[in-house]
Amino acid sequence: MALYALGDLHLSFQVDKPMDVFGSVWKHHERKIEKYVRKTVKDEDTLVLTGDHSWGRKLPECREDLAFIENLPGRKILLRGNHDMFWDEKKTPVLNKEYEGRLFFLQNNFAVYKDYALVGTKGFTFEGPFYLDRWGNITGWDEEREAHAKKLVDREMKRLRESFRKAEEAGYRKYIMFLHYPPTNILEDTSPFTEIAEEYHVHTVVYSHCHGESRFGDSIRGEYRGVRYMLVSGDYLNFRPALLLE
Ligand SMILES: [Fe+2]
Ligand SMILES: [Fe+2]
Repeated sequence: MALYALGDLHLSFQVDKPMDVFGSVWKHHERKIEKYVRKTVKDEDTLVLTGDHSWGRKLPECREDLAFIENLPGRKILLRGNHDMFWDEKKTPVLNKEYEGRLFFLQNNFAVYKDYALVGTKGFTFEGPFYLDRWGNITGWDEEREAHAKKLVDREMKRLRESFRKAEEAGYRKYIMFLHYPPTNILEDTSPFTEIAEEYHVHTVVYSHCHGESRFGDSIRGEYRGVRYMLVSGDYLNFRPALLLE
């Protein structure tokens, strides 16, 4: 029995969204997902997919993408990504009811793997615009957008706290924390997300959203202040699920 994670499948079986314009790693990426997930994940395993599942804007445009995910081996747990327009936060209970026993949608709730609670939310990070000097050093940023980002971080933190609270109330003391966005933006060493991870002595923080070589280093990877941080963006892993726990 094992726990795996993979992010940003960016499927588009029902909408026209060619992904290979973003580089050769995305060429027939759905075939790679199928191949590597089947090679790695067994039926008794759990696979957490950390958001940006589908390019469809409404649920009917995402059905085939969700069916593709459903047909992959293992228990599948889905987190919201910024592109998952089909999944309004308020609709989480409806999705969980409809896909009961097939897919689990993680938002304002938690899942269990062995004695670990799997908690999470989409998260948020300020992504600029940043102002650069001619050497590429950051000299400033859009402060209005930064203020707006702070509000979104607060809202996501509330949702994450709710996920932790429910897990704690159910008696869990060991946690794996999932975010779609990286836990810090490129200006930060710490954030409310790293602070809560430390507060709850989280075993691992798992995130994705960062695409392309130049973005893989945007946030923390590896051990930092007693917490392990793992980036699991599909293109970072060449669509091979990352092993979190055995
Ligand atoms: Fe993405
Ligand atoms: Fe994303």
